[in-house]
Amino acid sequence: MTRPNGSFGVDIIGSGSGLPDTRLTNADLEKVMDTSDEWITKRTGIKERRKADIANGELSSTLAIKALNAALEDAGITKDDLDMILVATMTPDMPTPSVACVVARKIGAGNIAAIDINGACSGFIYTISMANAMIQAGPYKTIAVIGADTLTRYVDYSTEGRTSAILFGDAAAALILRRNDDTSRGLIAHRMHTDGEGSKHLYIPSSEFDIPEDSEYRVEMCNRVQMNGQAVFKFAVSKFQQVIGDTLADAGLTADDVDHFVCHQANSRILDSARDRFGIPSEKLLINIDRYGNTVAASAPLVFTELAKSGRIKPGNKVMFLAFGAGLTWGSSLWQL
Ligand code: UT7
Repeated sequence: MTRPNGSFGVDIIGSGSGLPDTRLTNADLEKVMDTSDEWITKRTGIKERRKADIANGELSSTLAIKALNAALEDAGITKDDLDMILVATMTPDMPTPSVACVVARKIGAGNIAAIDINGACSGFIYTISMANAMIQAGPYKTIAVIGADTLTRYVDYSTEGRTSAILFGDAAAALILRRNDDTSRGLIAHRMHTDGEGSKHLYIPSSEFDIPEDSEYRVEMCNRVQMNGQAVFKFAVSKFQQVIGDTLADAGLTADDVDHFVCHQANSRILDSARDRFGIPSEKLLINIDRYGNTVAASAPLVFTELAKSGRIKPGNKVMFLAFGAGLTWGSSLWQL
């Protein structure tokens, strides 16, 4: 049997989500840009996404707190049991303090460790593996791992920005990890990768100095998502398949051994390609992009939370978290529950 690697076992003892109330449907987008429900549905699988009310203080940190409180309640523990808060985000409320520090202060978590990790859409997948490493290194016993992003604040809701505007939504989702002495449960294998050469395909410039050499600077580009959709699509299809294959090989498993592929939701066609390649049945790869769009670092934990709430996550399951995104980054984290 494939065993988790480490001196301690680690359990995922709770999960929860924090979603804005405001829904942005394809029909809403049709009113502000040249697009259609038919185009968006066919090319991406998205029907609606959520949008944070930034002007009224709905931020990555407030969504993260909502998600964390739900996860703590689900786990049957309180903030006082936490030793560390890790937040995967590329959209902090401000450059500093981190979202994790804001969350720790606002929930009254005292002087515990709290830090953000920016791995864009792959951020949560990196962070959950890093949380395992912190538990193995000690002395941390209980860690909240949160994915929280409000990328809609960097989206151009005009026809010029339509390629990315239709994709992104805001959300947070949290998992609680806890150390135990039974080493039969926990992280089995993981992968973390980057390809900086591909960074020009997906970025948010702050100034002219951030523009790739082969692109022409326009002031309107600043603080707006710049994406070469086709290049990212090609990268995603190939790396998703490669990282699934590599992680299974590392673990000595086949796709049939995995109960749930908990995937970053970027485009239902990208997920379908992975399903076809490995013969993964639809009940093992939940797609919820129709309701939330691409929620960046919140995407995979949001899928896990939905599976857990509906009773589909069972003790003994093997779960592979997967994502790809800006950086370019991609990775996996395979867990024995
Ligand atoms: O987490 C990582 C984040 N990013 C991604 O995962 C993005 C991956 N890429 C994709 O999902 C797809 O490339 C998109 C959904 C973004 C775009 O789909 P596509 O099939 O690659 O479309 P395209 O960019 O090749 O554009 C095809 C046509 C173009 O028109 P022409 O030149 O053929 O006349 C676009 O101008 O579709 C047009 N188009 C749109 N039409 C209606 C582009 N965006 C839209 C839109 N509504 N929103």
